[in-house]
Formats: sequence, C-alpha cells, structure tokens
Amino acid sequence: MKDILHAPFVEEMIDITANMYRLGWDERNGGNISVMLDPDEVAQYLDPDNVIRTIPTGFEAKPLIGKIFLVTGTGKYFRNIPKFPERDLGIIRIAPDGTTAELLWGYSDGGRFTSELPAHLMSHMSRLAVNPDNRVILHCHPTYTLAMNFVHPLEEKAFTHTLWEMCTECLVVFPDGVGVLPWMVCGNNEIGEATAEKMKQYRLVVWGMHGLYGAGKDIDEAFGLVETVEKAAQVYMLIGDRPRINTIRDEELVELGKAFGLDYRKDFLNL
Ligand code: 13P
Ligand code: ZN
Repeated sequence: MKDILHAPFVEEMIDITANMYRLGWDERNGGNISVMLDPDEVAQYLDPDNVIRTIPTGFEAKPLIGKIFLVTGTGKYFRNIPKFPERDLGIIRIAPDGTTAELLWGYSDGGRFTSELPAHLMSHMSRLAVNPDNRVILHCHPTYTLAMNFVHPLEEKAFTHTLWEMCTECLVVFPDGVGVLPWMVCGNNEIGEATAEKMKQYRLVVWGMHGLYGAGKDIDEAFGLVETVEKAAQVYMLIGDRPRINTIRDEELVELGKAFGLDYRKDFLNL
C-alpha cells in the first residue's frame, strides 16, 4: 500500500484548504469541501474492505451508493488541516443502504464529516445528473461576496448581472450565472435540498448572508468559479456608493458572448 498522506488527492486537499484559509475565506471552522474519488486510485492507498466505523448521514443518497468521497471534518479549522490531515479529513463511502457513510480513513479523533454533508452530497447528485464529470463541491465564506450580500438584492438575475459587469472575464467563467438562496438555517437537509435544487442549473450558489458554493469537475474549476465571483464582489464593494462613470454595457456582454461562443443566460441581461 502506498502512503495515503502523499496521495495526490490528499495533497491537493491540504493545499487548497491552506490556500483558502490564507485568502480569509475560511475563518475558524468555516467552509467545507467534498471530492469524489476514483475507487481504483483509492485502492492503491487503502483496503476498501476495512471499514473503520459507520456514520449515519440522515438522508438518502441512492445514486451515490458505493461512491467514495474525501470530505473535510465538522468543526475542523482549514488552518490546521496541513498539520493534522488524518484527524481533520476523512474518506467515506456511501453504503448499500444509501443512508450510511462507511469511514475508510481519517476523522481519527472520533470526529465526523462536515455538518453540510446534505448540501454536498445532494449537490453532487444534482451536478452529476447534468455533468457526469463533476467531482467537487466546495463551500466557503469569501469576504467580499458576503459583504455584497448585505447591500445588493439577493436575486439571481440582478446578482449575476452585477458580477458580470465587474470584470470582463466573469461572463466567460460563469455564463450560467449564480443561483441565490435567501438566508436559511445551515447544516440541515432543508438547506441541502434547496442548494441541490439550484445546482441543477448553477455551478455557483450563494447562501444569503452566509457564503458561497462552487461545483466543478475538479478543485481548480470549483475554486476558480468561487475566486472569480469573489474578485467581482471585491470590485463591487470597492466602488461602493461612488457614481459609476464607466461600465461594461449589456451590448458589450453580448459581443463578448459572441466572441467566446458562450452559452450564457441571455435572460439575465437587460436588453
Ligand atoms: P462544518 O465545520 O460542519 O464544516 O461547518 C462549517 C460551515 O461553514 C457551516 O456552513
Ligand atoms: Zn458555512
């Protein structure tokens, strides 16, 4: 067996969580990530028949039976993951009943997966139905996006449109726009179901006055989506209440869409 601490998927998780902490998006235990792993790759590092313990998930995830995920632990600080990966991360497999997680590695202090597992696994189901290559769901509390939530309408068309106006690249990076949920209690099945419903059409979902979710085929895609939203939100917050004397006009966004051959949300423009 190879050493799991040097598995590329563990090293990448350590790298991205440390990076996100440094960006200030994951204070204390804020944020969580789940990555679907390739069972053949996992078998190079772990005996798949060795289940350390089982943990009920509290919801049914039938389409994910047998799937294996690397998931951040609940209450764990992203800041500490590089030092204590085996304590603060875990690898789980969804058992044949669809409602139990089989722990294959990690959570070594008796811990468990993120409290946002419903939002993660339900979102995996939604994204996989749209794109079978989806592997990653990533949640964090990016500062400027959160700030923007308090001063901008929490409405999908308006929110997406403002972000598109803030950086030319936004339309290119997330032509499908940003889904928005109102403020809700977090850590339960209800917000999980609401997130997953949005994930049927969006790779990005704002949790009103809480944070942001990104989905992608790999960590680069999910992270790249979130950092692009965060950059645009930063520009928006830097502009503040000052009168805007220049802007990217909707006609220009149309030109951009044509130039890049984008399938974007045309109904999100004001034309
Ligand atoms: P967990 O520590 O359970 O992952 O929760 C952090 C968080 O961001 C809640 O939304
Ligand atoms: Zn959160």
